[in-house]
Amino acid sequence: MSRKPIIAGNWKMNLCQSEAKSLYEGIKSFVSNYTAPQLPIVVIAPVFTSINQVSEIPCSCGCGGSKLYVAGQNCHWESSGAYTGEISVEMLKDAGCSYVIIGHSERRQYFSETDEMINKKAKAILAGGLIPIICCGESLEQRESGKTEEHLAYQVEHDLEGLTADQVKELVIAYEPIWAIGTGKTATADVADETCGFIRAKVAQLYGKEVADEIRIQYGGSVKTSNIDELMSKENIDGALIGGASLKADDFLVLVNAAVK
Ligand code: PGA
Repeated sequence: MSRKPIIAGNWKMNLCQSEAKSLYEGIKSFVSNYTAPQLPIVVIAPVFTSINQVSEIPCSCGCGGSKLYVAGQNCHWESSGAYTGEISVEMLKDAGCSYVIIGHSERRQYFSETDEMINKKAKAILAGGLIPIICCGESLEQRESGKTEEHLAYQVEHDLEGLTADQVKELVIAYEPIWAIGTGKTATADVADETCGFIRAKVAQLYGKEVADEIRIQYGGSVKTSNIDELMSKENIDGALIGGASLKADDFLVLVNAAVK
């Protein structure tokens, strides 16, 4: 089963408009050398105020795909109303996004996002015609006490609750062990592969083998130019969600290049 890899840059709360624009220009000049079928799915997630500085790049070869997709870093599950500080799926779509990252551990930790909220967001994103990138991952304490699988099974079950098999096939899961995010400590490629494999098996248990074979599962957490090749060589890893190394065009392009056919 060959799944098209997905390389996504999560710019987090970084880059004002002019900086976002220049990083985008660097990425754009690289991806324009390829057609969409040669590239992995390449996604960038700027802050909301910089979405207008970047745009999707549709492929001109007639394949119907894009060379570059834009993602929101969060959304609300309601479509509009009195939710100060929030943004809806429709607004992200209107701004040109195709993907939305939800359930990032920083949102779970600092903004008290629960699996129930993430599940409502996932449903709203899919209903709005966008694709959720759902993050999950264990803490260091959970890993060290042997609770990784129990924790991930809980997250996967609750984040996907009520979704149809066809919806689950389309979405992306990003496995991001919390202890590896921004710390320089990457899970070894074997550990990352084994854990992504566990998540895939959980999806198979809930939705069947066909869905599990199709769903894309990324690894995230200190992905960099020196470890991308090994990570991408693993059977269960379908790409990467990248924070720090996605802020430098040169590094990000090496990461994209690792998944170019
Ligand atoms: P990092 O972040 O690559 O800086 O570790 C990954 C993420 O938070 O998605």
